[in-house]
Amino acid sequence: MPEPTYRQILYASRSEAGIDVDHILQQSRHNNAVDGITGLLWHDGDHFVQVIEGPESSIAATYARIAIDPRHHDVTILSDRPVGAREFGYWSMERAGKSMQDGAVMLARLERRLTNAPETVRQAFTAATKR
Ligand SMILES: Cc1cc2nc3c(=O)[nH]c(=O)nc-3n(C[C@H](O)[C@H](O)[C@H](O)COP(=O)(O)O)c2cc1C
Repeated sequence: MPEPTYRQILYASRSEAGIDVDHILQQSRHNNAVDGITGLLWHDGDHFVQVIEGPESSIAATYARIAIDPRHHDVTILSDRPVGAREFGYWSMERAGKSMQDGAVMLARLERRLTNAPETVRQAFTAATKR
């Protein structure tokens, strides 16, 4: 039996002022559990970096909703690739940030997705995470 293949998208965006991240997480965890999506949402005040991974059809539909959500803008895909196994498979949507427990570990996990990324993509990641 071949391994099931998942699609994994990593993107960065700028958040609107005063948004309710807890509400976004609540919505995301509910939908993602239904859709078979796992991932990580990084937020540090004015930027988001998010990984979503799961079956292709779920990811396409979910990313399409996220990309037009007015609570953030300048949504830029940093990496979009098939993965043979989930790499953020424990959480329907884990929250992370620099000041949070394991923040540095989570950032390193995200950065590893950019191993072969061009410099422009690395710069977008650095700007979003202020690494
Ligand atoms: C930064 C950010 C991350 C989001 N992540 C997810 C997500 O992982 N899954 C999801 O279903 N919706 C996510 N959303 C919310 C979607 O844009 C959209 O509002 C939601 O999926 C609509 O769900 P509903 O039809 O159940 O209200 C995110 C929104 C923002 C601004």
